[in-house]
Amino acid sequence: DYTYLTGRTPLPQLYTLGYHQSRWGYETSAEIRAVADKYRALKIPIDTIHLDIDYMDGYRVFTWNEKDFGRPGEVIADLKKKGFKIVTIIDPGVKLDPGYDMYDEGMEQGYFAKTPEGDTYVNAVWPGDAVYPDFGNPKVRQWWGEKQKYLVDLGVRGVWNDMNEPASFRGELPEDVVFTDEDRPCDHGQMHNVYGHLMAKATYEGLKKQDGRRPFVITRACYAGSQKYTTVWTGDNQSLWSHLQMAVPQLCNLGLSGMAFAGTDVGGFGADATEDLVLRWLEFAVFTPLLRNHSARGTRRQEVYRFSHVEKFADVIGVRYQILPYIYSEYMKAALRNTMMFNPLSFLYGEDAMAGQVEDQLFIGENVMVAPVCEQNVTGRVVYFPERMKQLIFKNGIVEEGEVYEKGFSYVEMPMGTVHVFLREGYLFPVAKGGKCVEDVDFEDLTLYSFGEEIKPYEYYLDDGETKDFALESHIRMLSC
Ligand code: NOJ
Repeated sequence: DYTYLTGRTPLPQLYTLGYHQSRWGYETSAEIRAVADKYRALKIPIDTIHLDIDYMDGYRVFTWNEKDFGRPGEVIADLKKKGFKIVTIIDPGVKLDPGYDMYDEGMEQGYFAKTPEGDTYVNAVWPGDAVYPDFGNPKVRQWWGEKQKYLVDLGVRGVWNDMNEPASFRGELPEDVVFTDEDRPCDHGQMHNVYGHLMAKATYEGLKKQDGRRPFVITRACYAGSQKYTTVWTGDNQSLWSHLQMAVPQLCNLGLSGMAFAGTDVGGFGADATEDLVLRWLEFAVFTPLLRNHSARGTRRQEVYRFSHVEKFADVIGVRYQILPYIYSEYMKAALRNTMMFNPLSFLYGEDAMAGQVEDQLFIGENVMVAPVCEQNVTGRVVYFPERMKQLIFKNGIVEEGEVYEKGFSYVEMPMGTVHVFLREGYLFPVAKGGKCVEDVDFEDLTLYSFGEEIKPYEYYLDDGETKDFALESHIRMLSC
């Protein structure tokens, strides 16, 4: 009902549900190529690499840093041949730089926020002195939307909107900076909370026009209803166990707020991550729609091959590709029916007072429950079972059937590098063989896990994962065993 009022989640391209590697600090295309090659060489599944601000020329949005990243788009085209998709960051701040087309065009049209005296308002972000597009003005959104063509033409497959609170390095924007609210002036006080939302709207609408595919936008700032245009990540977390713990209720809350396609910076953005934190984080994140490992410049490198037990990381990421048919199916059904893919226990067991208090476990769809280990130096945890359930253990690329747990609390052993799901009695769970990237996964070759006497058929959703051809009626099949 809430999404009826505020809007529904956009339908994702299938590839966006693969594993993404990002880092603020990839300074050259050679580095990007090396990351891609290393993942492939070590057979760690991956689909997407994100380019943070350094791919731009002097942090000018919609430009390319040819000195360090070669001919515009060349690295994107080369990596495409290896099965990689590229997502690029775009910030709202436009460099104050006469002669730079974005600045000149915006100035000529009066597209930037103004001071109460009518001058263009200037603050600072990555490029130094910068001006702020007035996204409340439909003409500005149209202009910004058209600019996405620059990226689409380079082969970019998704746009990451950052710093859109809007961030400013020389103190907050004063309340009285003048923006537009559709057809009338408004001030920053009124615009602040919807600025990121409107930037995402402009990006989404531009991508929709210029690229026939389902737009993929990620935003940092959002507002009620932003789910119509964009996915979201939870911003600059830290490499801390407490931030992994926080991720579980955070993503549940985002789901409850309509933002179904969400994720965290896996491993933590700030500070140095330890190997066990990244691995445990991934064990949870393989269930979250946005599965992106991202970290900050100056911190310990976090690509999973930097750690000693690479094979464990490859296995855990591989689980995402094994359960992808279920993740996609559940996501698409939730999106098309306006239900939730991330279900807190209280949603499925409303009568069970204990279930209502459990905040560190959740259901993915309705068939399976996950209970991530979010503590250091432990090999298992106490799990609350709201009903009889069977454990499935993903380990070394295979699935083992574990114990059946009765309703109530039980301690479950979950060694590092294994992924556990708990299957409800009478339900099916489809698992594929996995693959090195989404395209490689065979969605027709599934093993169906079940337990109990009478098993409900499973509504399996599958479409081309890219175009406007989506509809429950034509793409659902019933699987039974
Ligand atoms: C802030 C964002 O939250 C972070 O993810 C990004 O890496 C930096 N800006 C640099 O662009």
